[in-house]
Amino acid sequence: MAIPERFIEELSARCDLVDVVGDYVPLTKKGKDYWGLCPFHNEKTPSFSVSPDKRLFCCFGCGKKGVGAIHFIMEKEGLSFPDAVRFLARRAGMEVPETGEDPNYRRRRERLLELNKQAARYFHNQLESPAGADGRAYLYEKRKLSHGIITRFGLGVAPDGWDNLITAMAAKGYEKRDLLDAGLAVKNQNGRIYDRFRNRVIFPIINIRGEVIGFGGRVLDASTPKYLNSPDTPVYNKSRNLFALNIAKKSKQGRIILTEGYMDTISLHQAGFDCAVASLGTALTPDHAQLIARYAQEAVIAYDGDGAGVAAAQRAIPILEKTGMKVKVLRVTGAKDPDEYIKTYGAEAFAKLIDQSDNHIEYRLGQIQAKYNLEDNAQKVEFLRECAALVAGLRSPLERDVYGTRCAQLCGVTAEAMAQEVANERRRRQKAEEKRQMRRDLNPAAELQPKERDLRYENLKSARAEEGVLRLLMLDEGLFAHLGELKAEDFSSPFLGQVFGLFCQRHREGKPVEPELLAGQLAPEQVVRLAEILKSPEALSHGEAAMADYIEIIETERAKRREDIDPLLAAREKYLEKKSYGGRSNE
Ligand code: UTP
Ligand code: MN
Repeated sequence: MAIPERFIEELSARCDLVDVVGDYVPLTKKGKDYWGLCPFHNEKTPSFSVSPDKRLFCCFGCGKKGVGAIHFIMEKEGLSFPDAVRFLARRAGMEVPETGEDPNYRRRRERLLELNKQAARYFHNQLESPAGADGRAYLYEKRKLSHGIITRFGLGVAPDGWDNLITAMAAKGYEKRDLLDAGLAVKNQNGRIYDRFRNRVIFPIINIRGEVIGFGGRVLDASTPKYLNSPDTPVYNKSRNLFALNIAKKSKQGRIILTEGYMDTISLHQAGFDCAVASLGTALTPDHAQLIARYAQEAVIAYDGDGAGVAAAQRAIPILEKTGMKVKVLRVTGAKDPDEYIKTYGAEAFAKLIDQSDNHIEYRLGQIQAKYNLEDNAQKVEFLRECAALVAGLRSPLERDVYGTRCAQLCGVTAEAMAQEVANERRRRQKAEEKRQMRRDLNPAAELQPKERDLRYENLKSARAEEGVLRLLMLDEGLFAHLGELKAEDFSSPFLGQVFGLFCQRHREGKPVEPELLAGQLAPEQVVRLAEILKSPEALSHGEAAMADYIEIIETERAKRREDIDPLLAAREKYLEKKSYGGRSNE
């Protein structure tokens, strides 16, 4: 791992979870815990709790939970584990010792970033050269971009030819190998290496730190592919970066406008909407959404008006909503995309579109409405049924009333009739939920199972004991001395066994065992599971006896498993175990 563990330990000891969460939402103390409005979803009454002693955070509304300040920052800022550590270190005024990082990798990244910067400068300068005449004409005349906007975005042109960039960069000390790594050159089957971007206008992609991480290139005519983009490289990942976010993040407009294309975004900026960004030829990812949520409370989806744009918007809505942002969807009509809309109707008309843009409920209702002919009675009924299903899913009674009434009006039925339909649907859902609950009550074993599929236990009895062992070790490190011969292989659950192995290793190395310190080695849901294990009640006053009981269960269950494989071996083991239990009780 890049950052020394000792540092991570010190950092998590220094970062008080209540304090860190307090940066995002005010918390009030109630009993042992702190409560506030959930920073992960929109709510009016607090359902988010922080327990300082267990370092747990948990929302009873949206279900988001985790352990420790690092985990919280990973979730809230959408950062990887090492980046969350760096983020918190900055906040705590600590310097991250990056000694563990492979210095070669780091140097490589820096070299690629520097090369990208030089390449961007080269492309931009070409706009002034005779070789850039076509590109210049395209951007200024065809796309009607101003000099100011071209400079702000650092747009450029890659002249026609196979190795213009390769040659220009060679003069600056870069080899073909570097250009290949940066995705600026490609190699054909014969091993020939040539410029990736030829005879195209160039859009540099700049991250929020201001580094040039990649490029998009558009043809000047109708040839294909219309756009070429940098492939993913050590410095560029299209699922985690948004075009123009480096500019939009400074916007004062309080929202982010999300478009599908480079040109839509640039057009919007030129028209004064400096909060526009674009996903880079890829569908919106949860990482993108987290990134947007960092800079704005509201996202306006402004995709193309065609079928593909509508489908993409439908997919983007829940992803954005999950971050707790307010989500609106803008309907571009009379033009194929925002760029064309602004060129045809002007910036003011676009501002009106934003004002009129539907919140996502209205948008979804609109999508349903488009499927039915409301002149036809049978279709009207179908329409109302589908709307009732949507409205029944809304949490707020006020929203259910407003949108239910709207649907009723559309069909000329009474608001009461619609409310009845919605109430029926809600009752049906409630019944289904009760049934599920009853099944859970009748089968408590299932309830004890972790929710995540990958963490399911094969042998519940043994797994409970295995959890007990881990819990005791987390609560009292003195109990490491009472593990006897217990080994990770004895565990029935591979996950719990793996954690046990990690615990023992950390203990040998003199490191503390806390779930949050394992965040770098385990998946987030595993860390959460571990924190839940820690939360279950445990009587520490009898720690040693409890440990012995747990171990006995684990070993007996393991012997049973062996028995299935080799009865003779199992009998021998049982005999040996009996002896060793005898020994322990005499201690
Ligand atoms: P569009 O074709 O809608 O782009 O594709 P646009 O920006 O409106 O293009 P103009 O106005 O004709 O210049 C949307 C986005 O999808 C990606 C690009 O990121 C583009 O901006 N795309 C599109 C590609 O990556 N490759 C393609 O061949 C086409
Ligand atoms: Mn376009």
